[in-house]
Amino acid sequence: MAEKFYITTPIYYPSGNPHIGHCYTTVACDSIARFKRMQGYDVMFLTGTDEHGLKIEQKAQEQGITPKEYVDGVVKIFKRLWEYMNISYDRYIRTTDDYHVETVQKIFRKLYDKGYIYKGEYSGKYCTPCESFWTDSQLDENGCCPECHRPVTFAKEEAYFFKMSPFADRIEKLLTETDYLRPKTRALELVNNFIKPGLEDLCVSRTTFKWGIPVDFDDGHVVYVWIDALSNYISALGYMNGEYSDFENYWPADVHMVAKDIMRFHAIIWPAILMALEVPLPKHLAVHGWITFNGEKMSKSLGNVVDPFILGERYGADSIRYHILREMALGADSSFSNEIMINRINSDLANGLGNLVSRTVAMVEKYFNGTLPKDREPDSIDEEFIKTVTATRDIVAKAVDETRIKNALEEIFKTVDRSNKYIDETQPWILGKDDSKKARLASVLYNLLEAIRVISGLLSPFMPTTMPEVQSQAGIAPSDVEYEKLNKYGVLPENVTVHRGRIIFPRIDAEKEIEELNAIIKGSSQPEESKKEDNFEVPEQSAEIDIEDFAKVDIRVAKVVSAEKVKKSKKLLCLQLDDGMGGRQVVSGIAQYYKPEDLIGKKVQLIANLKPVKLCGVESKGMICASDTPDGIKVIFVDDSIPCGAKVR
Ligand code: MSP
Repeated sequence: MAEKFYITTPIYYPSGNPHIGHCYTTVACDSIARFKRMQGYDVMFLTGTDEHGLKIEQKAQEQGITPKEYVDGVVKIFKRLWEYMNISYDRYIRTTDDYHVETVQKIFRKLYDKGYIYKGEYSGKYCTPCESFWTDSQLDENGCCPECHRPVTFAKEEAYFFKMSPFADRIEKLLTETDYLRPKTRALELVNNFIKPGLEDLCVSRTTFKWGIPVDFDDGHVVYVWIDALSNYISALGYMNGEYSDFENYWPADVHMVAKDIMRFHAIIWPAILMALEVPLPKHLAVHGWITFNGEKMSKSLGNVVDPFILGERYGADSIRYHILREMALGADSSFSNEIMINRINSDLANGLGNLVSRTVAMVEKYFNGTLPKDREPDSIDEEFIKTVTATRDIVAKAVDETRIKNALEEIFKTVDRSNKYIDETQPWILGKDDSKKARLASVLYNLLEAIRVISGLLSPFMPTTMPEVQSQAGIAPSDVEYEKLNKYGVLPENVTVHRGRIIFPRIDAEKEIEELNAIIKGSSQPEESKKEDNFEVPEQSAEIDIEDFAKVDIRVAKVVSAEKVKKSKKLLCLQLDDGMGGRQVVSGIAQYYKPEDLIGKKVQLIANLKPVKLCGVESKGMICASDTPDGIKVIFVDDSIPCGAKVR
């Protein structure tokens, strides 16, 4: 019977449309799942959606629909994206599925009965968008949520807690003495930040919202995020429910893959829950960084998301899969830019792989009418080349087993480069001019087709749509790329026939494309209108004033002529303004939200008659108008057609 392999992505919040950041884990897990299937494993690849919580409840309310109707809509888009990206998941779990609800309720009760869950009261700082309580020491420098940097509120409520301390020693050992955590270098930060200071008990129920799984023995409490979400990995196999009977087969999971922001939950809380349930622990937790855009995590709320559908339409899903997998090293962030993506597609796919395939196929057609003859003339130069090609498989397999996807692709592309170099070394176009060299030419082209066979076979888990096309052009049958044959030489029939087709990876005109893409992405990545309003508490209106009071405030339109940071201050920018009245200097506390160059040339509203003050030793004559928003301070910019010095009334 085939060995089992169980791999999971996190379950995603369907609180907005998926973006390229969400694609990374899913594409990486899909590639591993496909690779393991190719190796003959019986694979279970799980993904899904995490559908409860206040944020979803609020979103639905805004749209005047039920939370279930809301998540049903977004889940459709997630599923459409996974289909589009050719994701071969075996099971899709929704935390609103009845069987999951059943499991979570049973787990909650079991932990309560065993004395690991108890009732208490929670009071502390709470971030609504992240649905997380934070201690004062965890808040960021502005006293905001350390994850999304939005304001937190004080919250107090009756709640159930899960005791973490009984598991501290075992978890520390798990992190430091086993290879559970990948990369292991992250263990120290977890031990020092969370375990050494003493593991705090975890709040596991809420009473302030309804959209969650009810605690079935205490009305008014719903199970709070992590027990609900994390249990998906076992409920999806049928743990404590009658829906599936795969738990014995597939548990413990071979790989949970997550990004760094949810590492703590998977490295500490999840093992603790499993220990309390006396369930074996998963084998590996692979943690990757974020896909960042302009240095920040790509996220809908920051308005910097890149739409995978748009990119896929232009370059094909496989090119996008290749690009994101090739850029991200395990554990590190990878920054997304259109330039990097297009250069990568051009250099590796168009020039590297595409050229190798099209040149080889074209030469078999040109010199042999598409079918290689049987006569051969090997040369000693071939040996090292063939050895490199056939050694690739095991190097790639090791990288995949260690969840080093970027390295796996690097290794395959070293063989692509080696193959292109082999063309340069053997100069088939010169051999083709001389009839007496036909047998040598046939050997060279056969060796190249063999290299394409191995390369395309190894690449197919990562680029499942285009590789069959490469294979069909190069005369490679599906049975030629079975895993056992990918470290062998001489698999293709001697008289292999090629079929020239379209250029699979066309070269992209980088300059033109980048311009077009930047325009599209700028337009599509504005934060959603509703998102801007998310969690924004409208401040109370101030006391009424007379028009005369208002008239005392002299508001003018002014243009930012230059701007620079105020030395020794993190928060202040010093702006030189053209106020239509000879110019002036204003100091503004917006340095954390705007770079000086973002402001130059922009028109703003200036409170012109405010008494001058010195801020950090720098004189400020007036103030520019701005608003506090959930995403920080935003300057109120003015239409460029209004002249400097114009009064605002
Ligand atoms: N619902 C929780 C996970 C529960 S798992 C038991 C959650 N959902 S999420 O939708 O916010 O994020 C899911 C995963 O996508 C996380 O690992 C998150 O870090 C990842 N990513 C979201 N944006 C990302 C990038 N820009 N780059 C890489 N991964 C990103 O957290």
